Amino acid sequence: MKNSVSTFIEAKKNGKKITMVTAYDYSMARLIDDAGVNSILVGDSLGMVVLGYKDTLSVTMEDMLHHVKATARGCKNALLVADLPFMSYQTSVYDAVVNAGKLIQIGGAEAVKIEGGSNICEQVKAIVNAQIPVMGHIGLTPQSVNIFGGFKVQGKGELEAKKLIEDAKALEAAGVFSIVLEGIPYKLAKIITESVSVPTIGIGAGKYCDGQVLVYQDMLGMFKDFKPKFVKTYANAGDMMTNAFKKYIEEVENGTFPDEEHSFKISDDVLNKLY
Ligand code: KIV
Repeated sequence: MKNSVSTFIEAKKNGKKITMVTAYDYSMARLIDDAGVNSILVGDSLGMVVLGYKDTLSVTMEDMLHHVKATARGCKNALLVADLPFMSYQTSVYDAVVNAGKLIQIGGAEAVKIEGGSNICEQVKAIVNAQIPVMGHIGLTPQSVNIFGGFKVQGKGELEAKKLIEDAKALEAAGVFSIVLEGIPYKLAKIITESVSVPTIGIGAGKYCDGQVLVYQDMLGMFKDFKPKFVKTYANAGDMMTNAFKKYIEEVENGTFPDEEHSFKISDDVLNKLY
């Protein structure tokens, strides 16, 4: 069944957990969608796990559109959410609406995600006013890595924690349909989840969130640069892939691939005329 923003809202009402996984291309979107996930996120984690940057700040609208379009072709039943990358919405309310519109109109996304709290509520209101569903994102927001001084857990102190609760409420009032809580203590995530009527989607925010999101390269053991504490590896696909590539190299080198089964035939009649 096709998931929509209503699926998120209904799930929170009914106490049903929401599932979300990232994807950045057609093949992965097909696999993840077939598994029955509620939502696929084309995150700007693209910059790190696909494009090889050290953070998400180099990701552009062009990068996002290229990957959102590919992902949209493979996304059938999941709600497709796309990230607004760094500097696509901070500059003005106008830029935010135009770029959110591009992710929908050119990319084929069905909702956009935006990092920040009360500081970006004007942008959120304007995008929602343009009839585009918005997912908020607070806590360890990777686009603020230079302000945070690294990828550090947020909301551990009283003032910081209170600010995150206020940010969540401000985003709800601005019209978001859900909020990602990233890298915060799980008991703070519980308070935030109970403080807003829209669902919270956790990543490194513990079990009390209304749903969870993971980056697929992390959950499949395909990204080896570092492994955050909150990541659970559901399959060692990275090792499986490396072993498969090693086997391929071995078989090409020793001549066992390609064999007859993987080769095309020609009739002897035609063949004899070629000599
Ligand atoms: O970019 C991303 O993949 C994200 C998730 C980690 C929530 O924002």
